[in-house]
Amino acid sequence: MPEISTYVSDTASAYDAMAVRYAEFVRGVLDGQPLDRAVLAAFADLVRESGNTRAVEAGCGPGHMTAHLRDLGLDPFGLDIAPAMIDIAREAHPDLRFDLASMDAVDGPDGSLGGVLSWYSMIHTPPAELPPYLAEFHRVLAPGGHLLLGFFEAEGSQVVPYDHKVTPAYRWPIDALAAQAAAAGFTEVCRVLREPRPGERHRQARLILTRS
Ligand SMILES: C[S@@+](CC[C@H](N)C(=O)[O-])C[C@H]1O[C@@H](n2cnc3c(N)ncnc32)[C@H](O)[C@@H]1O
Repeated sequence: MPEISTYVSDTASAYDAMAVRYAEFVRGVLDGQPLDRAVLAAFADLVRESGNTRAVEAGCGPGHMTAHLRDLGLDPFGLDIAPAMIDIAREAHPDLRFDLASMDAVDGPDGSLGGVLSWYSMIHTPPAELPPYLAEFHRVLAPGGHLLLGFFEAEGSQVVPYDHKVTPAYRWPIDALAAQAAAAGFTEVCRVLREPRPGERHRQARLILTRS
């Protein structure tokens, strides 16, 4: 694996230490989330419509969202920087491929994928470090492919650092993240902002974008 930044290795270590608890925490997480299931289903429909069902979940954790993409008719693989997460994902979903890799090093030729899902995986990325990830998603997506970002929203115009339970994280104004994605060559398709459900602290934002 190429050399990685300190914040990425810190993130990997933090998730390694919490991997088993995190996997337990997210087990069945979509069951009580009809709006999230709807967004993911719309994303999968758009990817299928583009004619290329190959997809990656970048920052897949224990792999449950990668498996959900498979259940929605896509042909996904996952990648994550935390080895313990990859071990759990491989054991839980032996039919799927999971790579130990960083989000700026997706294993695939240019333009080879129809979809990229980043579901709460860029929340730990310092804002200045975000462009290489978006550039990599743009590289690996075919023109007309789709990117779905899931993250915690910040009101106002500033990115807000906050005390995530695993490792420091950032909440993003939805306009600000949409602008970053536009600068990386993506066009917005839709946005969803939902209120916190019981047990959640923040509003949750979703952006579906297409690769120009
Ligand atoms: C909040 S968890 C989300 C996991 C999963 N997507 C989910 O929805 O439960 C964040 C995950 O992103 C991974 N991650 C963070 N930065 C990464 C990077 N630069 N490359 C690959 N994975 C990364 C972490 O190791 C962790 O498993």
